[in-house]
Amino acid sequence: MIRLLVGVLVFVINTVYRDRPIPRFYVLETVARVPYFSYLSVLHFSETLGLWRKSDWLKVHFAESWNELHHLLIMEELGGDKMWIDRFLARSVALLYYWIVIILYVIHPKAAYNFMELVEGHAYDSYNKYLTENADELKAQPAPQIAIQYYRDGDLYMFDEFQTGQKLEPRRPSVNNLYDVFVNIRDDEQEHVKTMFACQQTNAQLTFKSPHSQAQLEAPIS
Ligand SMILES: [Fe+2]
Ligand SMILES: [Fe+2]
Repeated sequence: MIRLLVGVLVFVINTVYRDRPIPRFYVLETVARVPYFSYLSVLHFSETLGLWRKSDWLKVHFAESWNELHHLLIMEELGGDKMWIDRFLARSVALLYYWIVIILYVIHPKAAYNFMELVEGHAYDSYNKYLTENADELKAQPAPQIAIQYYRDGDLYMFDEFQTGQKLEPRRPSVNNLYDVFVNIRDDEQEHVKTMFACQQTNAQLTFKSPHSQAQLEAPIS
């Protein structure tokens, strides 16, 4: 079922948007961040019912949705949302996926994380292919302002917070042109894959921490 869900999404996006990469990425980014909203909704609901509290999971998943929001804002700045039909398709599929992942996360959280690991892996492959095929053209174009703000000039707390796979130095990527921006988006997708993988581990409910919480735990006591 998980592979079918991912397969339908990939097939629709790849078939309908074969020759329109930026609208394709706009649709992908609109739909692919929705599962994080589903996770957050269920986690909040669990807290409200007093079932269990996992504040670090809320932080990380919100930071993941914040990262995907900025991918979406970049695609919008590049004009990916100009046609109403693209916005309509993206939002319709997003609505459907929101409820599917809510049900999946309630019944089987590990499967919901596995689903997102596959989606993020697909996103990585899509951006990687696009970079390989359009390198020269992308290097000749400027970086969108929203990307400069998110990756370099703004507050990077949220940027660090979703990357649970970063154990040594935090990522501080270049953002000198549009090629760099797509490299950064691609690498973000890989970081999501690592975080989704970490969420599926047997003892994750006990050990999973946000990067800032983990750094605080490891900081020497003065
Ligand atoms: Fe993304
Ligand atoms: Fe993603």
